[in-house]
Amino acid sequence: MANEPSTSELYAHGFRVPPEARARLLRQTPAILWFTGLSAAGKSAIADTVEARLHTAGRLTYILDGDSVRLGLCKDLGFTDADRHENVRRVAEVAKLMADAGIVVLVCLISPFRRDRELARSTAGRRNFAEIHVHASLAAAEARDPKGLYRLARRGAIQRFTGIDSPYEAPTDPDVFIDTCCKSIDEGADMVLNWLRSSDRCHHS
Ligand code: ADX
Repeated sequence: MANEPSTSELYAHGFRVPPEARARLLRQTPAILWFTGLSAAGKSAIADTVEARLHTAGRLTYILDGDSVRLGLCKDLGFTDADRHENVRRVAEVAKLMADAGIVVLVCLISPFRRDRELARSTAGRRNFAEIHVHASLAAAEARDPKGLYRLARRGAIQRFTGIDSPYEAPTDPDVFIDTCCKSIDEGADMVLNWLRSSDRCHHS
């Protein structure tokens, strides 16, 4: 891009309140819980249950959901590979800032490309980060089709729909794997909360 500034001209100010101080104030370990999977796999439903339980336990949380960020932060983006990459990049940067604010951030994006999810993990740096694969077979996701989008995609009324005419690269080594054919939403949420508990323990030891 022609007008992009050179990063060598940018200086981060050394502000006095570090992320650790904010986390202490909130009495919690921030984390980024990154839910990936096909549309209608159940990412948002599981994230919703995880968030509700954390909230009840007194944790400050926030959900960054594809359908919501695409109404604002990412409303200039469509579904080409390049736009999905930019969508993931922006949300990963926002998640990092929110984690630095002390928050447990739950990200629900299809994020179909392995390379982009690796970028999200490296953007998180030393912050707690979990890649959570919410798996549903294409047939199962298509049978659920809560928004009727698979039907439209099969008819050719929507192009580049993930699983139909745009790829989904499944994680090979996710931190949490939830197979929605045999796990309920509550069981999936338990798996995520168990991961969070054990990473909190590592963090404090
Ligand atoms: S991502 O691929 O860039 O990570 P994201 O999670 O933000 O996707 O958005 C996915 C949501 O956008 C879907 O749940 C669906 O409601 C809607 N959507 C509209 N068009 C498409 C499409 N071509 N492919 C996938 N999802 C689409």
